[in-house]
Amino acid sequence: MDRKKFYITTPIYYPSDKLHIGHSYTTVAADTIARYKRLKGYDVMFLTGTDEHGQKIQRKAEAKGVSPRQYVDEIVSGIKELWKLMKITNDKFIRTTDSFHEEAVQKIFKKLYDQGDIYKSKYEGWYCTPCESFWTETQIVDGKCPDCGRSVELTQEESYFFRLSKYRDRLIRHIEENPDFIQPESRRNEMINNFLKPGLEDLCVSRTTFSWGVPVSFDEKHVVYVWIDALSNYVTALGYMSEDDSDYKKYWPADVHLVGKEIVRFHTIIWPAMLMALGEPLPKQVFGHGWLLLEGGKMSKSKGNVVDPVILINKYGLDAIRYFLLREIPFGADGVFSNEALINRINSDLANDLGNLLSRTVAMIARYFGGVIPGSEGRDESDRNFTDLVLEAPGKVEELLDKLQFSSALTEVWKVVSRANKYIDETMPWELAKDESRRPRLGAVLYNLAEALRIISILLQPFMPETPPKIWQQLGIEEGPATAWDSAKTWGICPPGAKVQRGEALFPRIDLQKEMAELEAMASQKGEEKAGAEKGKEGKDLKAAGADGSEAAGYISIEDFARVDLRVAKVIDAQKVEGTDKLLKLTLELGSETRQVVSGIANRYTPRELIGKHLVLVANLKPVRIKGIESQGMILAAGDDEVLALVTLDRDTAAGTKVR
Ligand code: ME8
Ligand code: MG
Repeated sequence: MDRKKFYITTPIYYPSDKLHIGHSYTTVAADTIARYKRLKGYDVMFLTGTDEHGQKIQRKAEAKGVSPRQYVDEIVSGIKELWKLMKITNDKFIRTTDSFHEEAVQKIFKKLYDQGDIYKSKYEGWYCTPCESFWTETQIVDGKCPDCGRSVELTQEESYFFRLSKYRDRLIRHIEENPDFIQPESRRNEMINNFLKPGLEDLCVSRTTFSWGVPVSFDEKHVVYVWIDALSNYVTALGYMSEDDSDYKKYWPADVHLVGKEIVRFHTIIWPAMLMALGEPLPKQVFGHGWLLLEGGKMSKSKGNVVDPVILINKYGLDAIRYFLLREIPFGADGVFSNEALINRINSDLANDLGNLLSRTVAMIARYFGGVIPGSEGRDESDRNFTDLVLEAPGKVEELLDKLQFSSALTEVWKVVSRANKYIDETMPWELAKDESRRPRLGAVLYNLAEALRIISILLQPFMPETPPKIWQQLGIEEGPATAWDSAKTWGICPPGAKVQRGEALFPRIDLQKEMAELEAMASQKGEEKAGAEKGKEGKDLKAAGADGSEAAGYISIEDFARVDLRVAKVIDAQKVEGTDKLLKLTLELGSETRQVVSGIANRYTPRELIGKHLVLVANLKPVRIKGIESQGMILAAGDDEVLALVTLDRDTAAGTKVR
């Protein structure tokens, strides 16, 4: 019987010489799903790669005095090394400079031209070089790029255009008829209301102002503009338009394209329109995840704002980093990365909850049963409450992973971990050990703990490549039938008689204060290295997250924090403040009370998308007048001088509820 296929992709990465932990976010998530599907028996194709053409690369290479090819080769080998270090299990790695890709892109372009979906015209518009994005007059904000806020250049040139406008109605229909196509739902609404409904313009798909790109085969002074080149990777990697397209036939359409939210638009409008024009099926789903932010804003490489993943992995171990990325932030939402939050997670969830469960269990089996896992003859009815809860976890984890809800899936695993720790406290094995007649009962309790750990370790495999084998080694379980994915659904597979082996702590506890001081020293050293060049932003951000342990270093007490009255507030109305670009007047409901707040978020949010949202309000801020309007409090948002995202609640919470 043919196994079921599963095709998952990450975006292809721009070659960046400053990789930060945010870059690994999409890839770690995709790897987790790929591992999960393989464990479930699927024939998985997991693709990642690099997006190597464009003016920005050409300019950077020129500045370094090397050829673009030399420039990207070095960076791409660094990216491949990082994925190796992170145990990313991609089946293919595509580079847009691979000749098979370039040839296929030329054929795609030619086909679209021959059938009239691409035509030649003149382009005039604004171009943001760092973002490689074109903007129309109405899209730019105060003469700046609406995405990154930097200056844009006016350009005019002869270009080829893709008839994107022709596909608008079909796109709207497809998106509306296939609710899973764009996830999460908020992104679907954004695409329809903000981009498709207002109308689509044809898309400029070639450039003549630089040469580092795929040449248009029938008009060589043009190179294919980056999005057609880049998006095609998902099919060219499978041999589309080549002699051997067997992988294309086997794996396309993709089951899911995982992408950051800033490129959802390209993946849900341009890419499906291209596929429609080519007469190929559309991907089943595009999932737009949120951003990992530093306290100061997005960890954008363009802004020189980075946290080095190699340093983090070397310090804390791969599994701790992967766990943090997947657990800390609900997939889809934005979240803040800080070293302190990472260390707290390691200490509480990994060292304390999981690590202690294993070491206590193994230590008790060693002490009371000479290291041999006892039989479970002494089980009794009271165990049911524990074992039932453990056995509910696999189904829940599967359901949540199928929806890419990594954080909730891990929460389910940790419910088992906590319940098992509580089971130790309830059964008090050390008391049972005092009474020889209760030895069978003691055996059953320890057996149940070993069995729960077996099930936990199986469920952790998609998320953490290194920890499950360590657990098996300590429990004396061989990798095989007793560690198979589906065996987590059956109680009693852990073999009595197996010999446990005490080992090192899975996750050593970290001294938070010492560690933060060390990080601060590292960060400020880095800052000095960069001083003059890039203002040492990374150093500053790491510093902002930490302190050296003294009050003077910027700590506040819990009492200080408690003076800030934070409340859940529901937006019931939002309107532009006349004569301003940035200001919105919000009417907020806080339970019984209504507030009016003026907020500088109009560059990020339309009034329409705000209504109904639950935000967080600083309710006891002294009122001020802005543009003649009284503002009664402040809503919380991420971003430094520019708002990037608003703080919202991750589940339904009544307006007026206290936030602490
Ligand atoms: O966009 N938090 O490449 P890219 C979360 N070449 N995710 C982040 C992040 C952060 N701080 N920083 C980057 C491109 N990412 C194009 C794609 S696909 C046909 C072409 C994620 O190197 C980002 O959201 O800028 C995206 O999913 C991926 O890293 C690659 O980003
Ligand atoms: Mg990007």
